[in-house]
Amino acid sequence: MNTLTNIKNISILIVSIIFMGCHSNQNNSNTPSNNNSFEAKVDSILSLMTVEEKLGQLNLPSSGDITTGVSESSNVAKKIEEGKVGGLFNIKTVGKIKEVQKIAVEKSRLGIPLIFGMDVIHGYKTTFPIPLGLSASWDLDMIEKTARIAAIEASADGINWTFSPMVDVSRDPRWGRISEGNGEDAYLGSQIASAMVRGYQQDDLTANNTLMACVKHFALYGAPEAGRDYNTVDMSRIRMYNEYLPPYKAAIDAGVGSVMVSFNEIDGVPATGNKWLLTELLRNDWGFDGFVVTDYTGIEEMMYHGVGSFQQVSAQALKAGSDMDMVSEGFLSTLKKSLDEGLVAMDDIDTAVKRILTAKYQLGLFEDPYRYCDENRAKTEIFTAEHKAFARKVSAESMVLLKNENETLPIKKSGTIALIGPLANTAVNMAGTWSVATDQEKSSTVLDGLKEVVGDKAHVLYAKGSNVDYDLQLEKRTTMFGKTIPRDERTDKQLLDEALSIAKQSDVIVAAIGETAEFSGESSSRTNLDIPQVQKDLLNALLKTGKPVVLVLFTGRPLVLVEENKNVPAILNVWFPGSEAGLAISDVLFGDVNPSGKLTATFPRNIGQVPIFYNHKNTGRPLGNSEGKFEKFKSNYLDVRNEPLYPFGYGLSYTNFDYSNLKLNKTSINRDSEITVSVDVTNSGNYDGKEVVQLYIRDIVGSVTRPVKELKGFKKVMIKKGETQTVTFTISNKDLKFYNYDLDFVAEPGDFEVFVGTNSDAALKASFTFSN
Ligand code: BGC
Repeated sequence: MNTLTNIKNISILIVSIIFMGCHSNQNNSNTPSNNNSFEAKVDSILSLMTVEEKLGQLNLPSSGDITTGVSESSNVAKKIEEGKVGGLFNIKTVGKIKEVQKIAVEKSRLGIPLIFGMDVIHGYKTTFPIPLGLSASWDLDMIEKTARIAAIEASADGINWTFSPMVDVSRDPRWGRISEGNGEDAYLGSQIASAMVRGYQQDDLTANNTLMACVKHFALYGAPEAGRDYNTVDMSRIRMYNEYLPPYKAAIDAGVGSVMVSFNEIDGVPATGNKWLLTELLRNDWGFDGFVVTDYTGIEEMMYHGVGSFQQVSAQALKAGSDMDMVSEGFLSTLKKSLDEGLVAMDDIDTAVKRILTAKYQLGLFEDPYRYCDENRAKTEIFTAEHKAFARKVSAESMVLLKNENETLPIKKSGTIALIGPLANTAVNMAGTWSVATDQEKSSTVLDGLKEVVGDKAHVLYAKGSNVDYDLQLEKRTTMFGKTIPRDERTDKQLLDEALSIAKQSDVIVAAIGETAEFSGESSSRTNLDIPQVQKDLLNALLKTGKPVVLVLFTGRPLVLVEENKNVPAILNVWFPGSEAGLAISDVLFGDVNPSGKLTATFPRNIGQVPIFYNHKNTGRPLGNSEGKFEKFKSNYLDVRNEPLYPFGYGLSYTNFDYSNLKLNKTSINRDSEITVSVDVTNSGNYDGKEVVQLYIRDIVGSVTRPVKELKGFKKVMIKKGETQTVTFTISNKDLKFYNYDLDFVAEPGDFEVFVGTNSDAALKASFTFSN
C-alpha cells in the first residue's frame, strides 16, 4: 500500500467516524434552526478537505448526460468521483439517484453525499394547478397539503430538495412567470409562502418523505421592465420593503432551508453578486442561516450584465453571499486562482462550504446517504388514487367563475354537449408550465372528463375548431417541451365548419380555448394579452349559432377579456388545472362543485393599463367619480377607464352572497388592544357555496403615502343556501405596520378605514383610530 492510499484511507476513516458521530446525535427536529448542533461535525469535515474539494461542494451541475447504467462514464460522474460536485439537479428515480450517490459516497475521496434537487413546483407526478391558480383557491391548508403531497412523491423518487416556493410578487401579466407565483399581493403571497415551506419541510428535514424547500427568486424577479423576462428591475427601497419583499421574508421566517437568487439586477448590481441583498438584508437583517444557490448560470450571466470577467464575477458572487453555483462552474474553475491572488479569502469559501454541509446534515444524508432511495416507496406513494382525488378537488377549488349570465352554468348532464376548441383534447397541456416530473399524457383532458362525468346521461360531441394560433411559429413556441398540439392540416374554414356542424346539433357549447401551457412560464413574455385571434374567431362563430356558450378559459396569466366579457354568457377560468384537469373542470361545469376561486392578479381592460393592481396609491389627482368618467387634469386615461375588467379578489359563485351588518366592537385601539370586525354573509341563492370573505384596510394619513387599500385578512367559509354566517376578523397594530421612509417597520397613529366584501372593490366600510 503506498503512502497516498494510506492517507486516503485514514481520511475516509476519520470522515466515517464523524458521520457516525452524527448518527448517534440525530434527533427528530432537524430544522434549519438547529444548525449549531452540526457545527463541530461540519468543522471536522472541513479540516480534512482540500481547496478543490471545498469548491466541489459549491458546484451544482445539471444531471447532464447521466442515464442509468452509463452514469459512471459520464462527465458529471467523473466530476463526482473527483469530489467536484456538491449536488445534482434534474435527475429522478431511486435507481438513478442511488447509482449516482454511490459514486459520491464510495468513489470520491471523502465520500460526502450529494444533495439532489428538482423543480417540484406544483406537484410531482400528481400535478396541481399552476401556482397562480392554486393561489386563487385562497385555501392555505389545501395549498400546504399540495406541497406535502409533492414532497412525499418527489422524495419517494429519490429527490430531497425542491426549487420551490416561487414567491415573486408580480403585477405584470406580460411576464410569463406570473403563472408560477401567487399573484400581486404581498400579504396573501406571504401566507402562501409559509404554507408551502411547511408543506415541503414539515418540522423534520431528516424524515425520508420531506424535502428541503428553496424560496425563489430572491429578489424582485417579478418586476422586470416591460414584463420581459430577465429584464432590468429598478425600484425604490420603500416599495421593495412594503410590496415585494414580504413573501421571501415569510418563507425565511417559516424556516426555509435554502434561497435561490434571481437573475435580475437590483440597484444596478446583479442579485447574484449583490452583497446588500444576500448578506446585509438576508443574513444580517433577516437572520437566514441556510444556504443560497444561484439561479441557472446566474454567475456566468453577470458577465453579460457587464460587471466583470468570469473570474471577477465568480469572486463577487461568493463574497456577496452566493454559496452554491448552479451550472456556471465559475466557483469550481476560478476561485482557486482568486484565492491565490487574494480576491477571495479561505474564510469566504469555508463559510459557503459549511452552509452546504450543514444542509446535508439537516437532510440526514451523512447518517444515511440513501435515505431517500427506497424502491418500495416509489412503487406505492406516487400518483396514488388518494393523491389524484385530492388534486381533482384542489383543481376545482382554484377555478374562477368570471361571468355567468342567466345562470348559463351549471350545465345539465343531459341532451347533447358540443365540446369545441384546441384545448379540449390535449392531455399534455393540462399540467401547465413547470411540471417537469409529470407524465403529461396521463392528465385527464376536458373531453375525457366530460365523458366520464356525464356517463350515459348526455351525449358529448367533439371538434377541434381551430389551431392554437394563426401564426405557426408562435404556435410552435407555445407548445414546446412535449406539450405539442399537432398542427391540423385542414384549412381554418374546414376546422370551423366541422365545429359549427356539431354546435348546431347540440344544446350547449363548451369552448375550451385560450393559452397553451407554454404560453406562460419562463421566457414566455407577451405584448398582447388577447386570446389568440384564431380562437377568438372560432368563439365568435360559435356565439353566432345562438346556442348557449360556456367559455372554459385556459391561461397562465391575466388576459384581456373585454370582448368575451361582453359577448359570452359564461366564462370559467380554469388556469392549467393539473393532472386531474378534465375531471375537475367537469365537476364545476355540471355543478357538482360550486366554484369559489378568486383572482389573485388583476385582469386589465387593455395592455396599456399594465401594471395595474388593487393596492395602488391615491396620487395627488385622483379621479373624483366612481363611474370611471373621464376628468381633465385628473389621473386617468383618455381612452379607457381606470378600473380593471376584473379586480383582485374577484370571482363569482353559482349562488349569491350578500354582505351586511359590518360592525367594529370598538372604534379606537392602541398597541395593546384589538378590534373585532364582524360581518354577516348571507347565501341568498340556490346552491350551497364557499365564499372568500376579504378584509382590506386603508391608512388615511401616513408619514409617507399609503395604498388606497391593502388586504389584511380573509376567510374562506362554506355557507349553505338560505343561511347567514357572521364572519369575524381581528385587527391589531401589527396589521397597521409598514416600512416608513427610514425603513423602520411601524404603525402610525391616526385614522383607518376597514372594507369588507367579496373582492377588492369591497363596498362595506367602517372607520377606527389607532393611537400608540
Ligand atoms: C429558473 C429557476 C429554476 C432553475 C432550475 C431556471 O431557469 O429560473 O426557477 O429553478 O432554472 O431548473
